[in-house]
Amino acid sequence: MSIQHTDDVPQRTPLPEQSFHEKENRMTIADLEPTTPRREDEHPLYRVAGVTRTYTQKGRIVKALTGVDLDIMPGEFVTIQGPTGGGKSTLLQLLGALDTPSTGSLLLDGRELASASAKELGRIRAEEIGFVFQGFNLIPTLTATENVDMALEPLGLDRAQRRTRVAEALAHVGLDDRGDHLPTELSGGQQQRVAIARAIVKRPRVLLADEPTGNLDESMRDEILTLLESLCAEGITIIVVTHDSAVARHATRRLRLTKGVVQDITK
Ligand SMILES: Nc1ncnc2c1ncn2[C@@H]1O[C@H](COP(=O)(O)OP(=O)(O)OP(=O)(O)O)[C@@H](O)[C@H]1O
Ligand SMILES: [Mg+2]
Repeated sequence: MSIQHTDDVPQRTPLPEQSFHEKENRMTIADLEPTTPRREDEHPLYRVAGVTRTYTQKGRIVKALTGVDLDIMPGEFVTIQGPTGGGKSTLLQLLGALDTPSTGSLLLDGRELASASAKELGRIRAEEIGFVFQGFNLIPTLTATENVDMALEPLGLDRAQRRTRVAEALAHVGLDDRGDHLPTELSGGQQQRVAIARAIVKRPRVLLADEPTGNLDESMRDEILTLLESLCAEGITIIVVTHDSAVARHATRRLRLTKGVVQDITK
């Protein structure tokens, strides 16, 4: 808990003597309010420092990320924009523990992903990270329920727990009456909702989305954005790669990635 010097704050009724860590310091009421944590007290969900990612393609070197420094706090809604080839998907794959940096440090909740084993990265992906892609990536031969249920496979839940979780996730995205539909029996927006249900059914810390509205018309795009905003309000950190500035308007923080370097363009 942080301590604020009395000089910096307006006059307040003194708190009981035993609440003080030091006599000359005084905690404010805000410090005691658990529902409004002070931002500087929080640990970043992601701490990216000096990250590069270089691909070698047929003997040619492609520098996709050339030095990314970035903190993302829990509960943020971050968008990443930028020109094609700028490194957006590359960065998202690193944040999603699908890939590791060539150099630099990438901490997720204090754990170093850059040096984590494949097994540990797999566990983190399965338990803590939800992915949503432009093309929905649903398995065409499985129903909505079965597609969502697949994400629970690595978690070791019993059948009853899985059934409850899947039903909750589908209800959460407004599709409780579409569980037995195949992807071809759903609209594009509904397919993306199933994909979001599949991403959230594991109750992840963070949801990463690469152009999630790229294949949707405007009204479906707005539905998906409203859904992402409500998930963010429930405490899931949202990171969205997008070419669409209408998507970026929903963000609490806007980043731009150009030639492998991140810039904050929120204001
Ligand atoms: N597996 C790979 N092997 C070699 N080069 C790659 C690989 N993946 C990406 N690249 C290169 O890295 C750079 C960044 O690619 P990335 O896919 O991250 O861009 P992007 O910002 O997501 O682009 P877009 O907006 O078109 O999706 C590009 O020059 C790309 O050609
Ligand atoms: Mg991309």
